[in-house]
Amino acid sequence: MPVVTVLPENLAVEVEPGESLAQAAWRQGYHWPTTCWGEMECTVCAATVVAGEHAAEPATAEEEAAIAGRMPHFLRKPGTRLACRLRVLDDGLVVEKPGVRAPQ
Ligand code: FES
Repeated sequence: MPVVTVLPENLAVEVEPGESLAQAAWRQGYHWPTTCWGEMECTVCAATVVAGEHAAEPATAEEEAAIAGRMPHFLRKPGTRLACRLRVLDDGLVVEKPGVRAPQ
């Protein structure tokens, strides 16, 4: 099962096949910021890929359109992904997402 490193807290989130990074985090009790819970409407879940991009499935056109259309321009940067759509293929993916907290 792939493990994603989430900075800056250096958390290790296991992701099962077929689920997104945010879904995996929520399932395991992590706090991962959202207001739409995976409906691709809020973009609050967005994270930045900082290493290991090869371990992630590429963004779909639908995800790219949501980022371009719903996310404030000043928050978008290279490597921005919606964690609720980010599927993981292998170990090695590192993302930055302030506000993620480990299960209590
Ligand atoms: S959880 Fe709202 S867009 Fe991803």
